[in-house]
Amino acid sequence: MTNEEVTDLLKKAYGDEIETVMNYLTNSIVLDGVSAEEVKESLEADIQEELGHAEQLGQRLKQLDERPPASYDFEARQESLQPPEESTDVLSVIEGVLDAEEDAIQTYRNLINAAEEADDPVTEDLAVTILSDEEAHRTEFRGFKREYQKD
Ligand SMILES: [Fe+2]
Ligand SMILES: [Fe+2]
Repeated sequence: MTNEEVTDLLKKAYGDEIETVMNYLTNSIVLDGVSAEEVKESLEADIQEELGHAEQLGQRLKQLDERPPASYDFEARQESLQPPEESTDVLSVIEGVLDAEEDAIQTYRNLINAAEEADDPVTEDLAVTILSDEEAHRTEFRGFKREYQKD
């Protein structure tokens, strides 16, 4: 028996990861300037990690006899991650990334709780692993934000 709250959260997390990949990729291309280089490199590395998260979530859904959503089921939500008007506005991208990571952290915390309640330790373990990646992303971008607020 599949727990619906668990599979709904897995599907939500999958969609969020895909939206994150799209917005990190776009921002990594759009940003300009010497001071943007580090942030662009970090985004490029994170794109691969977020894509890996989506793959793992999709495989877990399959193991639970469900399917990950495709583009027709997709609802875009990352308003603050839309690329800034000004291509050198790195701080705007940093803040958008922090919003996305906070949101992901909350989703994985909810998934951990739901999986624990549903006695689904495999999903719980996956959510814990991904949560630790998202917390590492947040730490990195908090560091970028501190650097930008200094100047
Ligand atoms: Fe992720
Ligand atoms: Fe992340």
